[in-house]
Amino acid sequence: MALAEDKKNIINEIKSTSSIDDLEKIRLHYLGKKGLIPEALKGLGSLSIDEKKSKGQELNITKKLIEETVKEQKIIIENKEIENKLISETIDVTLPPNISQQGKIHPISQTIFSIIEIFGNLNYVVETGPDIETDFNNFTALNIPEHHPAREMQDTFYIDGEDNNVLRTHTSPVQVRTMLNKQPPIKIIVPGRTYRSDSDATHAPMFHQVEGLVVDENSTMVDLKSTLVTFLEEFFEVKNLQYRFRPSYFPFTEPSAEMDVAYTKVNNKIKIGEGDNWLEILGCGMVNPIVLENCNIDSKKYQGFAFGMGIERLSMLKYGISDLRSFFDPNYRWLEHYGFSILDSQTRSGL
Ligand code: DAH
Repeated sequence: MALAEDKKNIINEIKSTSSIDDLEKIRLHYLGKKGLIPEALKGLGSLSIDEKKSKGQELNITKKLIEETVKEQKIIIENKEIENKLISETIDVTLPPNISQQGKIHPISQTIFSIIEIFGNLNYVVETGPDIETDFNNFTALNIPEHHPAREMQDTFYIDGEDNNVLRTHTSPVQVRTMLNKQPPIKIIVPGRTYRSDSDATHAPMFHQVEGLVVDENSTMVDLKSTLVTFLEEFFEVKNLQYRFRPSYFPFTEPSAEMDVAYTKVNNKIKIGEGDNWLEILGCGMVNPIVLENCNIDSKKYQGFAFGMGIERLSMLKYGISDLRSFFDPNYRWLEHYGFSILDSQTRSGL
């Protein structure tokens, strides 16, 4: 039986295999139930005790060697396969782009760019804040009391842990952050993501708002009104916008109001500007002195106004998008239709 003496050839045979299938075939050939090694071990029965011992030992050494070499070879083959895969899947990033598949600016981004551009012309600066907020910034400092429905579990995503953090439910906490860090005059807008535990055709658990805040010594409700009218006329590209302010309630403003704009339906499409129907578009008011004091600003010396609006709503109305959920579907054809070219002038406003 040449098996034991033939170790070198067997090892070479194993080491020259380049596929897992071939390796398995070789392994079965030697070590399988009916393989050469088990058969040879069976054949030892007819030998003398001494021969049995020495041949048996030899065969077991060969068996071990085959097992180990197969194991090693398996790793070598697998590594080689990974290497080949990496080589064959290399992407040449220096190739020119496929123009027919060029990306588009999402309507939400486009809307944010327009808002920044319009308020930028009115001397507002952009402020941002984190998506994860403290309970203090999101609620307490804004005069939202402990029992307020906005704090309920069904509305707010609370973050596990001892810090009492939340996913911000509105962009208003950036008012607090700014007032705590800067002295008036303050004139900011805050576009950003916001979160509420809500989901249907008009609500998404993640959505966008833009917040505005002005704090100085003499801004009034009249300034608030003219600012918002100027913004909406520019944004919807209408002259003499028809609007109305309704008294409302927000804990962080006093007095508070909601603003409606008039619209008509033309061929089932909403046209903002005039008409017999009213659409609620934003919330606003004079900053509550309690909020100023919570942010270490002297409410006897300073006053101001604030406003907040939903970006999806503005975007849907401006671009005729009917289902809020479509904003967040990864649907390239939708984006191809509603998206904006990278070369659009408005998109290059600096963000
Ligand atoms: N934070 C309010 C909301 O999420 C919106 C809002 C209303 C913001 C009035 C304001 C404001 O700054 O003055 O519903």
